[in-house]
Amino acid sequence: MSLLLIKNGTVVNANDKFEADVLLEDDKIIRIEKSIVLSEVSVKVIDAMGKYIIPGGIDPHVHLDLPTPAGNSSDDFYSGSRAALAGGTTTIIDFVTPSHGESLIKALHKRKEVAATSCIDYALHVGICWWDASLAAEIEYCIKHKGITSFKTYLAYKGSIGITYDELYDVMKVVARFNATVTVHCEDGDKVAANQQQFFREGKTSVRFHALSRPAEVEADAVEKVLQMAAATECKVYLVHISAAKSMDIIHRYNNKKLRVETCPHYLVLNEKVYDSDNFETAKYVMSPPLRSEKDNEVLWQQLAANHIDTVATDHCPFNLIGQKDAGRHNFIRIPNGAGSIEYRTSLLFTYGVLSGKISLCQWVALTSGNAAGIFGISNTKGSIEVGKDADIVIWNPDKEKVISIENQFQHCDSNIYEGFQLKGLPETVIFKGKIDFVYD
Ligand code: URP
Ligand code: ZN
Repeated sequence: MSLLLIKNGTVVNANDKFEADVLLEDDKIIRIEKSIVLSEVSVKVIDAMGKYIIPGGIDPHVHLDLPTPAGNSSDDFYSGSRAALAGGTTTIIDFVTPSHGESLIKALHKRKEVAATSCIDYALHVGICWWDASLAAEIEYCIKHKGITSFKTYLAYKGSIGITYDELYDVMKVVARFNATVTVHCEDGDKVAANQQQFFREGKTSVRFHALSRPAEVEADAVEKVLQMAAATECKVYLVHISAAKSMDIIHRYNNKKLRVETCPHYLVLNEKVYDSDNFETAKYVMSPPLRSEKDNEVLWQQLAANHIDTVATDHCPFNLIGQKDAGRHNFIRIPNGAGSIEYRTSLLFTYGVLSGKISLCQWVALTSGNAAGIFGISNTKGSIEVGKDADIVIWNPDKEKVISIENQFQHCDSNIYEGFQLKGLPETVIFKGKIDFVYD
């Protein structure tokens, strides 16, 4: 038996904040009290005076080792989970992406083999990347026998992993029967494809046309159709990576109580001005949806503050500029979509959200762990500092600073979309399942 006592810190949960000592026995939290004094000599003590004791982060949207025509995303489960830990995230939710015609269950087993090198806990959303009625039984099996609580659908990526609105409607009907969740990438695939082809015909092939081919309306139109279907099917829906104020307007109009909404750090702290260059390096910002205006950033912050957005996930999916992104040097359509944030999510949200007074400490915890635990069915073990929960804990130093750089990053990638960003507030000690995994001086 191993005991770890965290003394003198401030516990912050999604709905509460208090001074306490926290005692861990092996991989569980066993006591939380104003003052814990132990006579055992074998107990290891950490002094957390002036620090926050927060639940290990839960990042509900990452793509490690994601196969694409330009090669796999540049972080595998080992390097990506190390980067997550370094940033205070102890649980990730990645994806099963079945190929056309492939059984969901076979694809799930294969994905688990790939994910086995993860140093932290992981769960999987099962992608529905093609559809016929035979998948209904597989969905049921995944829910009843494989612990799956969510199914990922893409309206973008027409012709590869994207499905149609009609297919999505069928998926929602099936998933609603079992009270599970459908997560949706809302970009209208037909409109994106039409815009891409139009630009290509006109010889407009540089990076900036990636963003221009996916304007905010393309997201908002898809959001509207999805919300109509969510109302008709009564399915629980989670909208991934919402980037635009226009989408939030629609979300408010539908006022669906079962709806849950995610955004990402890059839609909060970066904006579309980065595309205003002919330097191919801007390909590092090619993600879908693309970055939006500063006004969109501002609206998203307001929506976080008003609790209208439930989670901040990274959509971590980095690709190297050299050897991967450069597949699209002469045609933006070929640039693999995605960027890395897994290591910075909690700190970016603290620095630019909490310290700038946009969100509270408790909201920060809700957005980075508490809410995701509830939405994806893991709140019995994760997402708060409570007796009986997993000892996944971050001791957060609110004064510690660093500047983000490819020189000091853990993620595997030759570029970094946050290069030069100043962070204030960083994990000091990261404890995963009761074991100290990272200590920063
Ligand atoms: O650009 C992105 N978001 N890449 C990862 C795959 C996805 O669309 O979520
Ligand atoms: Zn994604």
